Amino acid sequence: MTIPSDQKLQSRVNALHQELHYHNHRYYVLDDPEIPDSEYDKLLRELQDIETKHPQLLTEDSPSQRVGAPPLSEFTQVTHLIPMLSLGNAFSEDEVLAFEKRLLDRLNGNATKDQEPENPMTTLEYAVEPKLDGLAVSLLYENGILVQGATRGDGETGENITANVRTIKSIPLKLTGNNIPDILEVRGEVYMPKASFESLNKRAREQDEKTFVNPRNAAAGSMRQLDSSITASRNLAMYCYATGRMEGANLPDKHSDALKQLANWGFRICPDSKVVSGAKGCLDYFNEIGNKRDDLSYDIDGVVFKVNSLDLQNQLGFVSRAPRWAIAHKFPAQEQMTLLKDVEFQVGRTGALTPVARLEPVFVGGVTVTNATLHNMDEINRKDVRIGDTVIVRRAGDVIPEVARIVPAKRPKDAKKIVMLDTCPVCESEVKQIEGEAVSRCTGGLICPAQQKEAIKHFASRKALDIDGLGDKLVEQLFDEKLISNISDLYALKAEQLSNLERMGDKSAENLIAALEASKKPSLARFIYALGIREVGETTAKSLANFYRSLEVLKHTDEEHLQEVEDVGPIVANHIVSFFQQAHNNEIIASLFAAGIEPIIPEKLADDAEMPLKGSTYVITGTLSSMGRSDAKKHLEALGAKVSGSVSKNTSALIAGEKAGSKLTKAESLGVAVLDEEAMLKLFEIHATES
Ligand code: IVH
Repeated sequence: MTIPSDQKLQSRVNALHQELHYHNHRYYVLDDPEIPDSEYDKLLRELQDIETKHPQLLTEDSPSQRVGAPPLSEFTQVTHLIPMLSLGNAFSEDEVLAFEKRLLDRLNGNATKDQEPENPMTTLEYAVEPKLDGLAVSLLYENGILVQGATRGDGETGENITANVRTIKSIPLKLTGNNIPDILEVRGEVYMPKASFESLNKRAREQDEKTFVNPRNAAAGSMRQLDSSITASRNLAMYCYATGRMEGANLPDKHSDALKQLANWGFRICPDSKVVSGAKGCLDYFNEIGNKRDDLSYDIDGVVFKVNSLDLQNQLGFVSRAPRWAIAHKFPAQEQMTLLKDVEFQVGRTGALTPVARLEPVFVGGVTVTNATLHNMDEINRKDVRIGDTVIVRRAGDVIPEVARIVPAKRPKDAKKIVMLDTCPVCESEVKQIEGEAVSRCTGGLICPAQQKEAIKHFASRKALDIDGLGDKLVEQLFDEKLISNISDLYALKAEQLSNLERMGDKSAENLIAALEASKKPSLARFIYALGIREVGETTAKSLANFYRSLEVLKHTDEEHLQEVEDVGPIVANHIVSFFQQAHNNEIIASLFAAGIEPIIPEKLADDAEMPLKGSTYVITGTLSSMGRSDAKKHLEALGAKVSGSVSKNTSALIAGEKAGSKLTKAESLGVAVLDEEAMLKLFEIHATES
């Protein structure tokens, strides 16, 4: 027997009711959502669709009949005399264009009359604002004094959170300025700045406490505390974007000017708001804010466009629970739910094994994601991730997608624990975890092809030698075809070899050869960074370049002396010294130089390019076989170095010939770099063109 479809639908509706009620409670009451907003929206939309097509299934208790949160029973309730509305959404350019068309049609009377108006409006002015991702709050002032703060709740009734609101420093307790209304209700968003959210979660992690999922939940959770000293301890802020009730004063006739008036009374207004013309202006603003989203100090999930004229706003009015005159243009959701099918380990440049989640493809943050990082084993354990879990994938801006958390309720019985490998998946060397470090590493070093490949990618990357056209994919291809096995091989490549490669024409081959040629004079700092010494990032590389002014000198220095350099501690110093102790690395550097690579001495000296050693102090000792000490001195001075008779901490390097004595001992004890005659000659050779 087949089940009648009505009955099937009814049971689906019941299931949706139950699920949505559950998630509402998690989100609004516990401030601890289990699924991403996108997933919740899907469920709600499914229910709304059924209810639209089958109105007999719509009941008063349906979750679709509720906007926002039910009030928490512990707080007293506040009735909003003017309801707090929600906003319609647009997700595409077309929807924004359609929004403006609707407005113009209505204002020009097309929606109600057949006749064309005499002077039809063709464009509108909009106040445009970031759509802040926090908690909507209403503030009530009587004779300029804050008397009440309330959450939006379900739009009609909210919670009285006056005590908590009073703890927020950017909310005025007393208004400033002139013409203060007898009664003023101001609305806006209480939010937690991103930096405060990060440090709150960091502290929670350190104390093994529960973390918040995002700044919005952290803000909501902080505002809905019965103990307002907890709210006070959280760094919250508020931007105001609307007024509600108002008696005893008038507002200017544009929304943007009303905001300025609010600022004069002491409210904080979002500095990234502005006024634009037409849908085109709105779309440009959407892109502009989208581009700087990651740099904003607060979280947003889109932008809001509001018709700027309050008179036109009145003419346009409302439809159900949202104003016709405003719309939220939302960014694609940054979190989506999907299935974790498997975990593989990727070997990085320094041998670190990163667990990577293989996912059921999912569209998130504007792209389809199939892989996401799980960071390291500590993170996996903290989030309790297993293979087979339903996970929430997050992709924010340019950041690589990550598995943010799991949905415990959806864990299958046979979910599999993730374990670190014993051996490298690429070279099979042993994998080790150093105590105190979160990462495990392949111990294969340069015999590991994965590490070799990554080293080449790093060398060519934007912040290193910035070799145009040599992206990660091409490095993989060149490596797999055995055309290169280390960075110095790059400079031996021939155009003919390249143009034989798949997806590579003559023109691209020539371009790459030209780009390699153009990369031969990097700054010394870039060159040091490009070598990929562990823990030597851009900044440290710059400090090293400025301090030593010569790779030759850097190569010969020791750990103690290195620690004189800004940002260099014992660990980094040890990595640097070990790097230059490995013969293999020195051979590669030598062949890079032989291929014509010539690092340029730091900028500081750029106006004096002929004096690459300016600012450094050398001491010469012992017997040199290729030249007398005085000639060596002349060479050094010609390069700009000072030559001194005695070794001190400030000595850049000691040049030690045969039978060097006490100066050598002293240099060694001070950690001053010691160059033998060969290294000195190399130093002269490197700078030969300049001297
Ligand atoms: S105006 C009558 N402006 O979005 C229009 N709302 O879905 C009322 N929001 O709950 C809202 N930033 O919490 C407005 N610049 C902004 C906003 C904003 C965030 C939130 C607000 C409201 C929701 C509407």
